[in-house]
Amino acid sequence: MEEFLINARKLAYNETVPPKAQIDLATEKGKKLARELGANIDIVEAGTLLMDCAIGQALKEDRLAEHVEMGLQKANSLLDKSSLTQEEKENIRHCILEHHGVSKFYSLESEICCNADCYRFASVKGFMNAVRYTREMPFEDLVKLLNNKVEEKWNAISLSIVKQDLVSQHGVIIKMLENLKEVK
Ligand SMILES: [Fe+2]
Repeated sequence: MEEFLINARKLAYNETVPPKAQIDLATEKGKKLARELGANIDIVEAGTLLMDCAIGQALKEDRLAEHVEMGLQKANSLLDKSSLTQEEKENIRHCILEHHGVSKFYSLESEICCNADCYRFASVKGFMNAVRYTREMPFEDLVKLLNNKVEEKWNAISLSIVKQDLVSQHGVIIKMLENLKEVK
């Protein structure tokens, strides 16, 4: 598993989007949740590293909606070469496939990856990272994007401990976005 994680880190950090700070935020939060909830920490780390590993390429090719499928293909090339068990591979595949949320998750690890991803926009740190790394975008487009992403990620939270952790931060972010809309 350790060798697989080294390769997964390389693959994730090689992509231009999301920036390293956002990859690390979701990975850190995912591992913390895995420890707290008794899930497999290595599987969660693999999932958070790989869930958006093709998003840079997808953006460049104007195929953002396909980034999950594209990421799965990239991850499969790593998984096929690895010595992980079939169950570990299947679990990691589902962490990628389900990272935007589903009605019933394949595993606790998959659910944790989805919830860890929510920190990228619904926490103050993730929100600031998002602003920091999208500064070239026209301001109004950025505000619109942030509005959409913050709500999308807030609604994708399925774990009550994550909702509790983020409720006040989400409130602060919403208030800030409301005030931004008023500034013309
Ligand atoms: Fe994604």
